[in-house]
Amino acid sequence: MTAPFAFDLLATDGRARRGTITTPHGVVRTPAFMPVGTQGTVKAMFMDDVRATGADVVLGNTYHLMLRPTAERVAKLGGLHRFANWPHTILTDSGGFQVMSLAQIRKLTEQGVTFQSHIDGSKHEMSPERSIEIQGLLGSDIQMQLDECLRLPASRAEIDRAMRLSLRWAARSRQKFEAMGGPGLGQGLYGIVQGGDDADLRATSARELSAMPFEGYSVGGLAVGEPQAVMLAMLDIVCPLLPEAKPRYLMGVGTPDDIVESVARGIDQFDCVMPTRAGRHGLAYTRFGKINLKNARHADDPRPLDESSDCPALRDYSRAYLHHLVRTGEALGAMLLTWANVAYYQSLMLGIRDAIEARRYADFVAETKAGWARGDL
Ligand code: GUN
Repeated sequence: MTAPFAFDLLATDGRARRGTITTPHGVVRTPAFMPVGTQGTVKAMFMDDVRATGADVVLGNTYHLMLRPTAERVAKLGGLHRFANWPHTILTDSGGFQVMSLAQIRKLTEQGVTFQSHIDGSKHEMSPERSIEIQGLLGSDIQMQLDECLRLPASRAEIDRAMRLSLRWAARSRQKFEAMGGPGLGQGLYGIVQGGDDADLRATSARELSAMPFEGYSVGGLAVGEPQAVMLAMLDIVCPLLPEAKPRYLMGVGTPDDIVESVARGIDQFDCVMPTRAGRHGLAYTRFGKINLKNARHADDPRPLDESSDCPALRDYSRAYLHHLVRTGEALGAMLLTWANVAYYQSLMLGIRDAIEARRYADFVAETKAGWARGDL
């Protein structure tokens, strides 16, 4: 019998929480940043290096993997952990968000969403039940309900409709998850709070979802074009309404600043393409703030990005060399900067966890922001 999915709250400081999530593939220290591995790969990184930066969990995408190589093929090959050589925890997104943002033609009904693949135009159907089935075939440890994520701005009527559809899909997702035996396998299913930028609709969504038995709760539909202040105001409303004893995941967020501010409001998990995507575009996130390696001012700079880091990408390569790699479009430039960014994000999370344990989170945030503002000169 597999141990059940568990969340243990170890310490709090204000609303900030330090805990652990236990899944069939290990222990996730929270607050956690989950590098994005959409296609079963954290782009331009070896999984061993991802692990060595301190990541306990990576994210995979139902939408992409169902199209290629298909969930059935991954299942036949032993599941996503084995397929991707990542024996630790995997969280999968349900596909709702990606269908909305990537698929070309889609039709949304109560039953689910029909869409055309962005790869070859082939037609596919995704329902709450099919999404859970796919996540089960992949062997995901932390699964997401299918939801409808709107882009903002949207009318209140539209936000209300999408939020209530997502609630009905939450209940159907839960039923399917239990029918698939997820709880007995120690897996978790999270419900997703929607409600756009409307305080009342957010509160309704959080209350109704909290009454359903999920292992954790996600906050979706944020960082979709609204100012940071709006996102944080929504967290101020939603987090106090979610069960204290369950983990909370803010989907698709964010910058280092978004992360420290959201942890202060009670968020435990994050994912974002920012560190990996920025790395492929010549941008480094460091404790000195953002550094654009494309910039000519780095051409003669012999200093590494951060000599005090234990990550080779941050410590062992000069800014002049990184600048050269980025300017010449060499693959190694993308690899090193992705590695450096993932390492910085993980060191930020480590600092966050230590500060909450020491009950000095507010001081940590002030010091960290001062470092970003001071820069490296
Ligand atoms: N990723 C970022 N935002 C969202 C969201 O609202 N829903 C889902 N399923 N994934 C997301």
